[in-house]
Amino acid sequence: MRWMITGAGGMVGHDLVSALRETDDVRAFDRADLDITDEPAVTAALRGAKPDVIVNCAAYTRVDEAENNEALATAVNGEGVRLLARAADEAGSLLVHLSTDFVFDGRKRQPYEITDAVGPLSAYGRSKLLGERHALTARRHLVVRTAWLFGLHGPNFVEAIRNQVMKGNKELRVVNDQRGRPTYTPHLARAIVRASRLAHADPEMAGIIHYADRPECSWFDFAAAIVEELGLGDVTVSPVSTAAFPRPAPRPAYSVLSTERYEKITGMATEEWRPGLREYLAKRA
Ligand SMILES: NC(=O)c1ccc[n+]([C@@H]2O[C@H](COP(=O)([O-])OP(=O)(O)OC[C@H]3O[C@@H](n4cnc5c(N)ncnc54)[C@H](OP(=O)(O)O)[C@@H]3O)[C@@H](O)[C@H]2O)c1
Repeated sequence: MRWMITGAGGMVGHDLVSALRETDDVRAFDRADLDITDEPAVTAALRGAKPDVIVNCAAYTRVDEAENNEALATAVNGEGVRLLARAADEAGSLLVHLSTDFVFDGRKRQPYEITDAVGPLSAYGRSKLLGERHALTARRHLVVRTAWLFGLHGPNFVEAIRNQVMKGNKELRVVNDQRGRPTYTPHLARAIVRASRLAHADPEMAGIIHYADRPECSWFDFAAAIVEELGLGDVTVSPVSTAAFPRPAPRPAYSVLSTERYEKITGMATEEWRPGLREYLAKRA
C-alpha cells in the first residue's frame, strides 16, 4: 500500500514512518516538505503522491502557548485538516487523522467512549475538535484519538522526569488528580497501521476510534513507575494536586479513553505502557 505521512518529523510521525518503512511504500513529509496550511502545496502533494492512505501527524501541539495563539493553533489543527480532507477526496485517499483526549472536559469518571459529548477546556482542545470535524467530512476517513504520549522523537513526560533526576533533583512532586492512559508512540504507530489497513479495506470502519496503552493511572503513578524503572531508590515522588501547579491551559482531570471500538475492530488488545517505558529507557541509556 502507498502511504503519505504529514508531520513526519514529529514524535508520532517519526515512529509511524519507521513502522511502515519495511513493508510499504511510504512518502514522508516533514514540515519543511509540506506545510499543511499551504493550500496549493497540499493539493500538489496529494496529486503527486496519490496515496492509498494519508495519515496526518502534523499539528500545533504547544498546549499552553495555544492559549495566546489560538488563531495559529486553529489554522494548523483546524483549517489545515480541512485542506487535507479536500485533497484526500480528490486523490481518492483514506484520510487518517490524529486527535486527542483534550476534546473532552474530563468531568466523567468512567472511560470516554467515542459517542460521549465533547467539551474542550483549552484553545488547543478547541482547535483539535475543529480538525476532527473537518476530517469527518472526508469521503473516506478515520479519526484516531490518543493521549499521554511518550516516544523517542519529541519532548514528553518521561523525558521531563528523567531530566529532573539527572539534574540531581531527589524530591519530585507530581500531580495525582489527573488520570489517563500513558501511551508509547511505537505502540500507537502499530495501532494506526493496523486500524488504517482495516479502514482502507472496509469503508464501514470509518469514524472515530480511541487508542491508548493500558492500564490507566495518574501522573503521580506514572512518575513513580519511571523512577522505579530507572532504579533510583534515593528519589522520592510525592503526590500533589493540580492546583499546586497552575498552568495556562486547563487539562481534563479525567481523560481515560475507552478503547473498546479499537479492540472490537482489530480483534487485538491494546499494549501495556510499562514494557514501552522499559524499551524507551533502554534506548535512552
Ligand atoms: N503528544 C501527546 O501527548 C499527544 C496526545 C494526544 C494527541 N496527540 C496528537 O498526536 C499528533 C502527533 O503529535 P506529536 O506528539 O507527534 O506532536 P509533535 O511531535 O509536535 O509533531 C507535530 C509535527 O507537526 C509539525 N507541524 C506543525 N505545524 C505544521 C504545519 N503547518 N504543517 C506541517 N507540519 C507542521 C511540527 O513541526 P515543528 O516541530 O517544526 O512545529 C511537528 O514536527 C497530533 O495530532 C497531536 O495533537 C498528541
